[in-house]
Amino acid sequence: MPTQEQVMESLDTVLVPGVMRSLVKMNLVREVRIAERKVDITLASAALSLENQEWLKDRTSDVVQKLEGVEEVDVSFVDSKPKDINEIRYVIAIMSGKGGVGKSLVASLTAIALKRQGCEVGILDADITGPSIPKMFGINTRPSGSDSGILPVSSRSGIELMSINLLLPSEDDAVIWRGPLIGKAITQFWEETLWGKLDYLVVDLPPGTADAPLTVMQTLPLTGIIIVFTPQALTTMVVRKAINMARQMGKPILGVVENMSYLYVPEIDRKIELFGKSRGEEMARTAHAPLLGRLPIDPALAKLCDEGNIEHYDAEIIANLGESLLQVTSAKATSGSDRHD
Ligand SMILES: Nc1ncnc2c1ncn2[C@@H]1O[C@H](COP(=O)(O)OP(=O)(O)OP(=O)(O)O)[C@@H](O)[C@H]1O
Ligand SMILES: [Mg+2]
Repeated sequence: MPTQEQVMESLDTVLVPGVMRSLVKMNLVREVRIAERKVDITLASAALSLENQEWLKDRTSDVVQKLEGVEEVDVSFVDSKPKDINEIRYVIAIMSGKGGVGKSLVASLTAIALKRQGCEVGILDADITGPSIPKMFGINTRPSGSDSGILPVSSRSGIELMSINLLLPSEDDAVIWRGPLIGKAITQFWEETLWGKLDYLVVDLPPGTADAPLTVMQTLPLTGIIIVFTPQALTTMVVRKAINMARQMGKPILGVVENMSYLYVPEIDRKIELFGKSRGEEMARTAHAPLLGRLPIDPALAKLCDEGNIEHYDAEIIANLGESLLQVTSAKATSGSDRHD
């Protein structure tokens, strides 16, 4: 007879269609009972279409049947909702009072950096009227789902993505909604997406300090916020508002990231501070949080974003950012009790 561990190991090889993560990583295995030579497996049906359920049932039977000592496998589904299944350890929102400073870029690089550190990562694009995450990752696959929820789409490196842009009939369609509807969409993305087990969910916020950031701060169990800014004086002034908002809402600021900090010109081996002197240290002091990184203006990076190939970006700052993020979040986790199940 196989052990529970052996059965779970087999189930970890069964990939959920669309997400390309296993039944175990999507946290869909609810119960495994082994008696005599029979194995009974109960899976959660959350966000799975009937077609997907049938497929998973067959695959599950196949792999478990192969285990030594197994004569019979019974796979059944139990009704469940994504929000009861999801287990997300850290939820990080990327924020700035200002538009166009590179929030979405930093959100994407944050997710990529954490993925490269070996973490399971997802991105919730909370910018409902101006979503830009799928474009940077070159993704336009429509998510699948059922009445109970929706499956995220997996990027090439295995980051789970959910964005309104993936749901629109055409990615060029505009979403013209008022605040309450936008808030509802964000809440639905949180509650009705089957994220499964994730180490990190990165939330990309729209600019400003209005409805959407407010919804995210009020409804999502945020571990903390990363503030993005550029060295321009106007930006830093607006960013202070975002810092104040986070404070008023009682949400910790995990760190600050200065984007477009400088331009490196290899021909003369010099860093040119195009937008003025770095304000990294100053903003870190204002936020009472560490400076997690200073990103240069990098034409190669802009090109990769435009081409939908941001995951190909390979610069030292990504490794540094990943290490800093692991440090600041593990410092927040004083015990396992902060797990947002
Ligand atoms: N460090 C950088 N190097 C090169 N290009 C950059 C850099 N930062 C941002 N960009 C480019 O600037 C554009 C705006 O960035 P991004 O979409 O991340 O800003 P945002 O703050 O999310 O904007 P919005 O307020 O509209 O949500 C993008 O097309 C991106 O490719
Ligand atoms: Mg953006």
